[in-house]
Amino acid sequence: MTTEDLIDLGALGDDFIRDPYPVYARLRAMGPVHRVRIPEGAWAWLVVGHEAGRALLADQRLSKDWRRASPSLGVRKVSAGTSMLSSDAPAHTRLRRLVAREFTPRRMERLTPRVQEMTDELLDSMTAGPGRSADLVGALSFPLPMAVICELLGVPTLDRQAFREWSDTAVSSLDADERGRASAAMNDYLTALIAEKRVGRADDLMSALIHTSDEDGDQLSADELLGMAWLLLVAGHETTVNLISNGVLSLLTHPDQLAALRADFGLLDNAVEEMLRYEGPVETPTYRFTTEPLDVFGTVIPGGGELVLVAMADCDRDPARFPDPGRFDITRDARGHVAFGHGIHYCLGAPLARTEARVAVRSLLERCPGLRLDADPARLSWRTGMLIRGPVSLPVSW
Ligand code: HEM
Repeated sequence: MTTEDLIDLGALGDDFIRDPYPVYARLRAMGPVHRVRIPEGAWAWLVVGHEAGRALLADQRLSKDWRRASPSLGVRKVSAGTSMLSSDAPAHTRLRRLVAREFTPRRMERLTPRVQEMTDELLDSMTAGPGRSADLVGALSFPLPMAVICELLGVPTLDRQAFREWSDTAVSSLDADERGRASAAMNDYLTALIAEKRVGRADDLMSALIHTSDEDGDQLSADELLGMAWLLLVAGHETTVNLISNGVLSLLTHPDQLAALRADFGLLDNAVEEMLRYEGPVETPTYRFTTEPLDVFGTVIPGGGELVLVAMADCDRDPARFPDPGRFDITRDARGHVAFGHGIHYCLGAPLARTEARVAVRSLLERCPGLRLDADPARLSWRTGMLIRGPVSLPVSW
């Protein structure tokens, strides 16, 4: 392989989905930019390594606006409406400002007791039966973030199971038609949900977004409301699910690290950062399109709406940034990882995700002494696609 070669990542099949890190590392050894076909089918410019990846995440010459995508790419936007994640500044600035105050670390701090309550209820159900085993994804990793984001937004009636299926397919399926159908079903459902909320005057975030204007008299259009609901609901659960699952999996496959955490929960905050670095939930972030030719360490990516993907999973396993990056070590300094992205699209929900992960991991370990993996880690099946990384299910016993 050379940097000029076209590399078909889709042809690597399950091996790449299960363990993409060696492939990225081999590419990184050859240079930061590669022409690849992604498992979803499109051709893209893949950027590997921490320095180049971090720089491009924040480079505003790359656009998040799908109208900039070259028609020849053959890719279709899955999410409906217009959201901050599919906008460039200044439209992005306006959309983000409308909700930013709801997700500050201080707000999230205040939410901790409620997250604890929800976690305790889920762990009560998980441990209630006579059997001492469960699928952790179904019992805790999925329902916790979903319940939290539904409560925050004020959509308690959301059909969580249907939503999970649509969202999983829209985000991870390798079949474009399947993604399109799931996305259309979700749009219809969310449009109806917004109409329902429009009638009431509840005191919650979704109603506030529908009814009120901010200080400047700004108001979201119907298209922007749909985009915001889509983004907050999908980003609010798809990712955190996999932070909990991947984090617990990393602990269970590294017994010395698990023992260290059990012995000292003072290590918890740092352990969550290492979970994000070592096995982050987002493998490559959402699509970026070139607006002009970009010289990336000597390789020129043409302008005109080419698709650029940053391998965030590789940025955080680059030995030039993190010594011995393949070692899961909850005491290392993992700060500087890009698991939440970088630049103006840096994750709005990072404080919420951290709160949920800390509460979930600690409570699980406290409630389930002797927690262990009930499967061969090499045989777990992983979410397909390059956006989200996490196991489909995680059998555990205690
Ligand atoms: C561990 C959990 C999470 C991870 C790893 C994660 C990761 C990310 C990443 C990488 C981005 C940037 C994408 C890009 O630049 O293309 C992002 C953006 C975003 N995330 Fe998260 N996220 C998590 C949880 C959440 C939660 C709980 C919410 C709920 C509110 C959320 C809301 C958002 C929003 C609204 C954006 C778009 C920000 C913007 O465009 O300005 N995320 N997230």
